[in-house]
Amino acid sequence: MVSTWEDFYAKHPPPQDLAQNEQALKEFTRKHLEADKKVVLVTSGGTTVPLEHNTVRFVDNFSAGTRGSVSAEYFLEHGYAVIFMYRVKSLEPFSRHFIGQKFLDLLHISENNETSVITVLPEYTQKVATVLRKYREAFDQKKLLQLTFTSLSEYLWLLRSACQALAPLENKAILYLAAAVSDFYIPSHEMSVHKISSSGPPTISLQLVPKILAPLVSLWVPKAFVVSFKLETDESLLISKARTALNKYHHNLVIANILQTRKQQVVIVSKETDYPLSLTNEQLDNGDEIEQLIVRDLVEKHIKFIRSKEVS
Ligand code: PMT
Repeated sequence: MVSTWEDFYAKHPPPQDLAQNEQALKEFTRKHLEADKKVVLVTSGGTTVPLEHNTVRFVDNFSAGTRGSVSAEYFLEHGYAVIFMYRVKSLEPFSRHFIGQKFLDLLHISENNETSVITVLPEYTQKVATVLRKYREAFDQKKLLQLTFTSLSEYLWLLRSACQALAPLENKAILYLAAAVSDFYIPSHEMSVHKISSSGPPTISLQLVPKILAPLVSLWVPKAFVVSFKLETDESLLISKARTALNKYHHNLVIANILQTRKQQVVIVSKETDYPLSLTNEQLDNGDEIEQLIVRDLVEKHIKFIRSKEVS
């Protein structure tokens, strides 16, 4: 059984930090609306579905947040202000270049009169400086707002609030829904309060999550440029499913990708056309990023979209 989206919000309380995030969203969008700037909401990373109210275990998915964090950087390069809504501990713009051990490998330590001096190794200085400059510019000039979620319910509440804040920007806003959102959940009233006992195999019944694209497109941001993603593992279904989504939700674009090849190829699907964007093996080995092609393509489409609305 599928509950309605209204039902979902009625049955799941808002996250505790929602009011604070709404304030930050309001200030951010107001500033960029006044400056006549284009704003993109990038969602990134996967949602969790808790199995217990006092959560010990949850259902998760594979998304690392690469698509979203890389795309956010390219949108900033194209002059957009970016709301980056991401799963806690998934990749973030800029810091993604230096995660884990890679970060420590950049550094050199020397002892000087009992003082430790830490410097960036010369071979990495240029790379760190380039990323650091862009990072400082984004935050100092308040072009990037980062907000986090973990569970499906937190994601859906924050998404709705972000849409409400973006609505006044009308066609100057892009929604770039790259997060891997769970299609299944356990309704709050069916969830165990405490850690599920391991004395026998548990019976867990998952329900379908209502498709949030429906109210998002028709009610929350009806004038924005909305881009959703379609992830499949069976290539023969990819384009037909992307088209079905476009026909059902009436948004602007679907970016279709296959799990295993998502870093090298995507298909841009609109009502009229579909075409691939891809990197050669050599480009991939050189560190080129498919998101650069995706964002460039979208920015051109968004400009045309804004112009078409000015004319009509
Ligand atoms: O993070 P990476 O490791 O780089 O991986 C990137 C990615 C593969 C996660 C990304 O490119 C991608 O495809 N994201 C969308 C994955 C997904 O949720 O696909 P879907 O087919 O389940 O949903 C399609 C669309 O419906 C999504 O844009 C989603 O926002 C939307 N949706 C999903 C569930 C739901 N209940 N309501 C929705 O509106």
